[in-house]
Amino acid sequence: MTKLEVKTSLLDNMIGVGDSVLLETLTEDTFLENLKKRFDHGEIYTYIGNVVISVNPYRHLPIYTPEKVEEYRNRNFYELSPHIYALADEAYRSLRDQDKDQCILITGESGAGKTEASKLVMSYVAAVCGKGAEVNQVKEQLLQSNPVLEAFGNAKTMRNDNSSRFGKYMDIEFDFKGDPLGGVISNYLLEKSRVVKQPRGERNFHVFYQLLSGGSEALLKQLKLEREFNQYNYLGLDSAKVNGVDDAANFRTVKNAMQIVGFMDDEVELVLEVVAAVLKLGNIEFKPESRMNGLDESRIQDKNELKEICELLGQDQAVLERAFSFRTVEAKQEKVSTTLNVAQAYYARDALAKNLYNRLFTWLVNRINESIKAQIKVRKKVMGVLDIYGFEIFENNSFEQFIINYCNEKLQQIFIELTLKEEQEEYVKEGIEWTHIEYFNNAIICELIENNTNGILAMLDEECLRPGTVTDETFLEKLNQVCAVHERFESRMSKSSRFLNDTTLPHTCFRIQHYAGKVMYHVEGFVDKNNDLLYRDLSQAMWKTNHMLVKTLFPEGNPAKMSLKRPPTAGSQFKTSVATLMKNLQTKNPNYIRCIKPNDQKAPHVFTEALVCHQVRYLGLMENVRVRRAGYAFKQPYEPCLERYKMLCSQTWPHWRQGARNGVQVLLTELQIPPEEFSYGRSKIFIRNPRTLFELEDLRKRRLEDLATLIQKIYRGWKCRTHFQLMKKSQITISAWTKRHFQRKKYLHLKSVTLLIQSYIRGWKARKLLRELKHQKRCEASATTIAAYWRGFQVRREYRKFFRANAGRKIYEFTIQRIIQKYFLELKKKLPSMSPTETTWPARPYLFLDNTHIELKRIFHLWRCKTYRDQFTAQKRAIFEEKLEASELFKDKKALYTNSVCQPFQGDYLEISKNPRYQKLTAAVEEKILLADVVNKINRANGKGAPRIFLLTQSKFIIADQKSGQIKSTVPVMDITSVSVSKQTDGLFAVHLKEGSAAAAKGDFLFTSDRLIEIITKLYRTIFFKTNQKINVVIDNEFLVQFNQDKVCVKFIQGAQKNGNLPTCKRKNNRLLEVTVP
Ligand SMILES: Nc1ncnc2c1ncn2[C@@H]1O[C@H](COP(=O)(O)OP(=O)(O)OP(=O)(O)O)[C@@H](O)[C@H]1O
Ligand SMILES: [Mg+2]
Repeated sequence: MTKLEVKTSLLDNMIGVGDSVLLETLTEDTFLENLKKRFDHGEIYTYIGNVVISVNPYRHLPIYTPEKVEEYRNRNFYELSPHIYALADEAYRSLRDQDKDQCILITGESGAGKTEASKLVMSYVAAVCGKGAEVNQVKEQLLQSNPVLEAFGNAKTMRNDNSSRFGKYMDIEFDFKGDPLGGVISNYLLEKSRVVKQPRGERNFHVFYQLLSGGSEALLKQLKLEREFNQYNYLGLDSAKVNGVDDAANFRTVKNAMQIVGFMDDEVELVLEVVAAVLKLGNIEFKPESRMNGLDESRIQDKNELKEICELLGQDQAVLERAFSFRTVEAKQEKVSTTLNVAQAYYARDALAKNLYNRLFTWLVNRINESIKAQIKVRKKVMGVLDIYGFEIFENNSFEQFIINYCNEKLQQIFIELTLKEEQEEYVKEGIEWTHIEYFNNAIICELIENNTNGILAMLDEECLRPGTVTDETFLEKLNQVCAVHERFESRMSKSSRFLNDTTLPHTCFRIQHYAGKVMYHVEGFVDKNNDLLYRDLSQAMWKTNHMLVKTLFPEGNPAKMSLKRPPTAGSQFKTSVATLMKNLQTKNPNYIRCIKPNDQKAPHVFTEALVCHQVRYLGLMENVRVRRAGYAFKQPYEPCLERYKMLCSQTWPHWRQGARNGVQVLLTELQIPPEEFSYGRSKIFIRNPRTLFELEDLRKRRLEDLATLIQKIYRGWKCRTHFQLMKKSQITISAWTKRHFQRKKYLHLKSVTLLIQSYIRGWKARKLLRELKHQKRCEASATTIAAYWRGFQVRREYRKFFRANAGRKIYEFTIQRIIQKYFLELKKKLPSMSPTETTWPARPYLFLDNTHIELKRIFHLWRCKTYRDQFTAQKRAIFEEKLEASELFKDKKALYTNSVCQPFQGDYLEISKNPRYQKLTAAVEEKILLADVVNKINRANGKGAPRIFLLTQSKFIIADQKSGQIKSTVPVMDITSVSVSKQTDGLFAVHLKEGSAAAAKGDFLFTSDRLIEIITKLYRTIFFKTNQKINVVIDNEFLVQFNQDKVCVKFIQGAQKNGNLPTCKRKNNRLLEVTVP
């Protein structure tokens, strides 16, 4: 949002009157008073219409700050208080926006502030035009060209400590956007005589002092210079130092500026060498030397200086020395050398110094131009800034002043042309009733100087070119002849009787009444300076140097390019360049800055009215104001006028569409301004009285406040509306985007879901298909496999017999069979006897048949035993069973057993039925007799034995007397509880009976028998068959027996045999029965 601009005017807060045209009563006094009032308040700028009058303040004013630049930027000329920036801004904007080339003409006398003004204009334009690295560099180069040119072209004069001693016109070039592209500097006539001589109280060009003060020791040594100014003849002795000027610091500034502008280091060095050489030239002195032929000759006094100059310039010393001593004149292929006398030698020296410096200066300008030249070739807009030396009146005015003042006349002329004349013509053009204002037109003076046939410059040229003796006096004579009648020309010899008595005018002088005052010129030096001759010997000598720069400065010294034609004179050169300049200026829109010098003391706050008045007069400022306000104080084209005041009338506000002129008419009528106060021109309104304008301004000011409120109101409304519309638009956009976003999201979701389902279905279908295909394939594969197996099987079955793979196994089995067959056959042959007691068995033939062999042995044995058993009859089987029982009962328990093994159990040893003695007994035994034998029954009381028959039937055993067969005891087998025997070989055994049984009345029975084993075995078996109970058979060497009521211990002891195997029993006591066994 741009800043809301409140239109102001130069009429706001005015000190005096900003624009002199608006002075209520216009006289020279009021004009000066206004200037003074403003000057006293630090307002150094005042307008006359669009012309800026600038009064040199000689002090620093705070009005050139960047803030000021911003303030004046893009503002209308009359909007703010008068300022040079307003003019610069106006010029720049009309250049940029309206495509009008501009020129800024800065005039005024020496010290009035022209150079400062030109710099202000340039810096303002630089500040407001485009920015950017490239543009900034261009700007910087343009601005920095100033210090360089000022160092070489400015000097302290009586009037100005920094007086421009050359004219400068600078074209700044812009592109269509108003960005600076580059520039071109034109320089006009440097006051080169200053190099060799300066008036009292003045200085040579700054650069000499700057170099000596600011150059480092090394640099000075390199340039063969001393630091003291007084070492050099060319530096005026007095006022070498200028108050407030730091030459050393300025030297650094200049060097820096040269670098920025684009000078190479070696270029700077070359330039300084030339400067040093010029300075040293002044120290060459000549002494007269008389020759025999009467001619005066000169000699260089001290050749050391010459030597050093030659070293600096890379010059052959002899060549330069000769050039200072001889002069060669060439005419019609003839060369004539004449010697130079001392005066001529000095003349030659000074001429060389001046020329060297002058050419160096021109070279510098060209070199700067090369740097600041626009790089692109496009159509350029141009703003020219003219800062030319001001009008000068010295005590002793010479050719230079003449030229300078001529130039100022020309500028005045152009000013008159463009302001006074055109202005008045404008009234006529606009059809306003107009009475012509008289003003001094200086065309007549210009004519006096520049007229081609009888102008002063033409005369001078004529004189210079004329053969024969030509002196300044002959020139003056000529002037007297030709110009004497001219009203602006005066001289002693003038025919005009008016001046005959004017003793103030010396004989060697003439006077011109310039527009700015009368100036008396001394003719001395006019011819020389106009000729501007440098002896050819010198230019040739210069051309011969090895110094890169000097050589280029003297191209005419090149013998190959030598021409006999005279170069144009200084005067005519200047005339041409001024004419070109004027032409150039006329094509551009002029902007005037008229500088005024307030005092001669260069002092601040001093306003010498007489001095200012003089300047105001010769600058024609009064006429300027008068013309501007003759009859009408203020004029303005209809458009801007309507634009400025249209808010004062309801009809014209805010828009008026029926032409600006009508608008202004309606406006003024409605405001009821008396008709005599204004006039309508063709394109402009002319206001007669300043008061009317102020009234208008007052009205406008008040109206503006209302309008500001209105604008605020509308602006606020607009802002809110715009904001609202923007919000609404944004809201629509946002909702559109949101909707889109959600729809899109939904769509994407749907799409992804669809795709998912699709993919699942496809997957499912594919898998199904795959399954079917796989199944089909597997079926096919299975069928094939089955077929293959089946075929394989068939083939194998058919061909198995042919398989070699089975051969091993077959061979193995066959071999094994064979081996086993052989084994069995051999075993058959070697079988041992069929006796069950046989233990031998053939040796094992093969290790692997070991188990079989043992097993066979066992089987064979079992089978052998079975076979053996199978031969038994039932009777024999019973005997064996008994034998087996006996073995189980006694084997390894009773020693007697071994003897019994081989004795067959006959059972019935007595065959009682056959023995008639035992008829009774036989009768008593109803049952079958299982055992019948004779045993010894031991007497319980004494241990003596008595033979008894022992009969065993299935239910009882009977004890009977051997002899009679009388039954002594019958004991049912069921009453037997146990049997006891010893472990020895004896045949004693005790039969224990159940206590309380009938048989046990006398107690247990003790018997001895050799057939003990058989008896007890049969007894045992009988009891088992009868009761199904096994009786206890105690085998021990000590056991208890029950005799009647006594328990008697039967104890077996080893003793001598008495009656065979039968033991001897002895009853020891009630308790013990000792049995002695073998
Ligand atoms: N606007 C200004 N503000 C402050 N000082 C100023 C201003 N203008 C000029 N001066 C002072 O006046 C002196 C002379 O000004 P300047 O060199 O511009 O004069 P000039 O018109 O160019 O003179 P010349 O014709 O001799 O070159 C400056 O050195 C400076 O001190
Ligand atoms: Mg100047």
